[in-house]
Amino acid sequence: MISGEFKENLLNVYRGEQFGEAFYATLLAETDDENEVVILAALLQLETEGKARVRPFIVKYGLPAYDNPNSIAGGVETARGLENESWRNKFEAMAAIIREQGLPQYEGLLEKVIPEEEPEAAELAEFVAAHERVILEVCENVVNGTPNPTSPLDDFLHFPIASRTRLSNEEN
Ligand SMILES: [Fe+2]
Repeated sequence: MISGEFKENLLNVYRGEQFGEAFYATLLAETDDENEVVILAALLQLETEGKARVRPFIVKYGLPAYDNPNSIAGGVETARGLENESWRNKFEAMAAIIREQGLPQYEGLLEKVIPEEEPEAAELAEFVAAHERVILEVCENVVNGTPNPTSPLDDFLHFPIASRTRLSNEEN
C-alpha cells in the first residue's frame, strides 16, 4: 500500500520538474552562446525526462497530472532573479537550491516506500534520487570549470543533447 506521504512527496517532485523545466527554458531564452545553450538544453532535457518518468505514477495515484501554474511561475521568477548574475554564479545558486531543498526531498522518497511491497514505486524512488544527484553533479561541474560538464548526462538521458562542437567550459 502506497502511503499518503509518498504520494504527497511524489507530487512535490513532479512539480519540482515543472519548476525545473520553466527555470532552464527561461535561462535558455536569454542566451545565444553555443556552450551555454547545449548545457541548458541538456538540463532542460533532464527535467523533461524526469517529468515523463514520474507521470504514469501521478496518474496511477490519482494526483494532478497537469502543470501547476505556481510551479511554472516559480521557475520563471527564480531564473529572472538570476538574470544579472554571471554564468558561474547562476550555477552556484542552482547547486545550493539542489543541495538544500532538492536532494533531501528527492532522496527522502526512498524512505517512504517498502521495496518488498511496492517494487515499482521503490524503483521510481531510486530513479528520482539518481536524477537529483546527477543534476547536482552537472551544476558543480560548471561551477568548478570541469571540461564537458554535462558528460554525466550522456548515459543518464534517454534522448541526450549533442553539441555541434566540443564543449570547452572555458568561459566561466
Ligand atoms: Fe529535476
